[in-house]
Amino acid sequence: MQVSENVLLKSYNTFGIDAQARYFAAFSSVAALQELTAQQRAQQLPLMILGGGSNILFTQDFNGWLLKNEIKGISIVKEDNDYVYVKAGAGENWHQFVQHCIGLNLAGLENLSLIPGNVGASPMQNIGAYGVEIKDVFHELEALHLADNKVVTFNNADCHFGYRESVFKKEYRQQFAILSVTYRLSKQPHFNTSYGAINEELQRMNVSDLSIQAISQAVINIRSSKLPDPAKIGNAGSFFKNPTINKAQYTALHEAYPQLVAYPVADEQFKLAAGWLIEQCGWKGYRKGDAGVHAKQALVLVNYGHARGREIYDLSQEILDSVEEKFGVALEREVNIC
Ligand code: EPU
Repeated sequence: MQVSENVLLKSYNTFGIDAQARYFAAFSSVAALQELTAQQRAQQLPLMILGGGSNILFTQDFNGWLLKNEIKGISIVKEDNDYVYVKAGAGENWHQFVQHCIGLNLAGLENLSLIPGNVGASPMQNIGAYGVEIKDVFHELEALHLADNKVVTFNNADCHFGYRESVFKKEYRQQFAILSVTYRLSKQPHFNTSYGAINEELQRMNVSDLSIQAISQAVINIRSSKLPDPAKIGNAGSFFKNPTINKAQYTALHEAYPQLVAYPVADEQFKLAAGWLIEQCGWKGYRKGDAGVHAKQALVLVNYGHARGREIYDLSQEILDSVEEKFGVALEREVNIC
């Protein structure tokens, strides 16, 4: 197992930030991970597990052990009348995994096509798009408890999934390395076309026979049209979460801004489109040096080439402050800041 020192991370994070890690190694088995963490513990330096690097912003060099999860493998572990349970190594590319399942005619992940990153990160932040979150189809995961080197199984309830949240982002932050994830996929599809843009795209595509393949293609088309391809322009998807406000706040804001983009969620709460708030503050398409706000989706911050993590972070702070000042709404960052 090769451990490298002072490794440039530009190609390991989709923001394309030029930070360095003091030690870097990739692992493709739990045994290899255990060996690496033993070395890391002996040195008493911090540990970070990296997946596809698609939800992280490095604002400084990492003076510790950065271990990249490359555990591979996709297999069917169980099947009943309605469902097939498909297990994937955490280091599998998410979109390839989704396409693999669609190829097997198994439904449930098609709305989540083309999301950058790896399988291991999917439960971490309960990835979601176009009306579906992974918690809807998640069965269980295996993770290594780093403190005692034991492999633990988490079921759906154990993960405490919320909007872009799980136990692994909160109370168990940095305590587990996710090794594999098992999804419960349907033999009979229940199409989810509740998100307006999907229906519009399906019509544009002239789809008459709805299928998981068609939904996947619609999602791919929508994402490609408004989200920047990280292979071309550095980014980590939505930089902020869509904020939730209560009814009184919503009523007051809606009165002041009749165009406000919002939708009701549980308990008389409303979710606001953060992209709209940011656009209204004049940020859409903004660029300062190589740090910017995507011209087609204001929720996405971009690196046009050589932006430093700090510059992207400072820009996010300016955006946060201006939204707070104009609308009295506090945005929360979705991307992990290191
Ligand atoms: N909007 C604007 N201006 C903008 C962007 C958005 O006015 O610059 C308004 C539009 O009215 C639009 C609405 O906001 O109809 C919603 O925009 P969009 O459909 O692009 O979705 P989003 O709420 O901005 C969320 C997720 C995305 C996910 C899409 C589709 C979060 C933080 N982001 O974005 O997830 O792909 O919905 O489901 O919840 C990600 O997490 O990285 C991500 C890309």
